[in-house]
Amino acid sequence: MAEELIKLEGSKEAIYQGLLPQIKGLISGETDQIANLANVCAALKETFDFLWVGFYLVKEEELVLGPFQGPIACTRIQKGKGVCGTSWEKAETLVVPDVDLFPGHIACSSLSRSEIVVPLIATNNVVGVLDVDSKDLATFDEIDAHYLNEICSWLV
Ligand code: SME
Repeated sequence: MAEELIKLEGSKEAIYQGLLPQIKGLISGETDQIANLANVCAALKETFDFLWVGFYLVKEEELVLGPFQGPIACTRIQKGKGVCGTSWEKAETLVVPDVDLFPGHIACSSLSRSEIVVPLIATNNVVGVLDVDSKDLATFDEIDAHYLNEICSWLV
């Protein structure tokens, strides 16, 4: 396993295309899910310098904070609440260009301006979500949705 990520430059799509094989290399050969979630957070944070990258995992009908990189965050989110709980309920990726315009958004950090949440789906069941927050408005689009979904499909 490489011990450092290769520095990537270019368009967002080019960066994801360079990053995905590195992430695959990082997680293949490791069967512990928490170890892999932790390294995925670190790889995304280091590559894109997002404000917050982390996972919430479904435990007894709540989302509970899992591995993350960034400021401290709320530990539990109910189904249907906030962007994460809504992504869980709908089993859909949610791209939020302006968190202030998302009804019920949960502000773990007042610095967060936009957000994407991707569900982790194992045999038709949402088992967690990947949540990524940005300090800037409208950071995320269908390119992020596409590549983050691909990464999440490797983690279940
Ligand atoms: N903003 C999220 C809560 C989690 S934090 O952003 C880390 C939400 O509305 O579900």
